[in-house]
Amino acid sequence: MKYLRSLSKKYIAIISTILSVPVIILLLSCTNIKSENNNTMKQEKDRTTDTTFQQKKIGVIGAGWLGGTVGSLWVKAGHKVMFSSRHPEELKEMAEKLGPNASVGTPKEAAEFGDILLFAVPYDAIPQLGIDLKDQIKGKIVLDACNGGSGELGKEVEKYGNGPTSQKYLADTKLIRAFSSQDASQMEANWGKKQNKLAIPIAGNDKEAVAIAEQLVRDANCDPIIVGDLSTAVKFQRGTPGFRVHTTAPELRKLLGLPAVK
Ligand SMILES: NC(=O)c1ccc[n+]([C@@H]2O[C@H](COP(=O)([O-])OP(=O)(O)OC[C@H]3O[C@@H](n4cnc5c(N)ncnc54)[C@H](OP(=O)(O)O)[C@@H]3O)[C@@H](O)[C@H]2O)c1
Repeated sequence: MKYLRSLSKKYIAIISTILSVPVIILLLSCTNIKSENNNTMKQEKDRTTDTTFQQKKIGVIGAGWLGGTVGSLWVKAGHKVMFSSRHPEELKEMAEKLGPNASVGTPKEAAEFGDILLFAVPYDAIPQLGIDLKDQIKGKIVLDACNGGSGELGKEVEKYGNGPTSQKYLADTKLIRAFSSQDASQMEANWGKKQNKLAIPIAGNDKEAVAIAEQLVRDANCDPIIVGDLSTAVKFQRGTPGFRVHTTAPELRKLLGLPAVK
């Protein structure tokens, strides 16, 4: 009898140990979910309680690879972005996925909407857009990411550089060269990095516009490098060693011949 009682005690101990394993696993996974939720909430809280964050209204002219990518990063950062296309209905699905801060429109509507504009179209489209959007872009900060230029326009770019040439055709704007020399795929891959972030060079004449561009580069989770006025954009223009370099700010500064930041 005594033997039977000790045997049953042994079985109860074994069974309760077996039963407790899934309970412990369940409890541990709940703790993990809770801490993941806390992290996500903390990130959101950090963004909404960040008193330095100022939401901007940005119009993206040309929402293909580059415009679509950079605009999406800005929406994730908390900005309001209108993506544009000559066929805006084709962008609806992308904008819906991004949530209420993303909208779609024609290039004219986006140029009207944004206080700040990103141009990400084939370079040859710039002169006509400068005419078509003249009234909407007047006085605004334009981040120009467009490269290339063929025929006579290409010759102008070769002679004067992308910066001054874009400024000529997008007249009466505060034009900044930014997001022009790194691959959109690298910018996408860089999102979420805490260190060794992708460096993005900036060139522009207007101090206030340069400062805003600098912040927008940071909001895309990249590290800005201010190279100089618009003419210095040739340092990272297509065809130069400073173009399509995907590296950190200290490395890119070295490559562009800029002093190290202490
Ligand atoms: N892709 C990159 O990684 C990268 C990186 C840095 C700089 N860039 C520069 O960014 C620009 C865009 O490159 P992408 O690769 O993003 O090209 P993309 O995917 O072909 O997108 C170009 C966009 O421009 C729009 N577009 C074309 N012609 C237009 C016109 N006449 N008027 C208004 N919109 C027009 C198109 O919109 P709809 O046809 O829908 O109207 C399209 O969405 C280029 O100048 C490129 O050199 C690209």
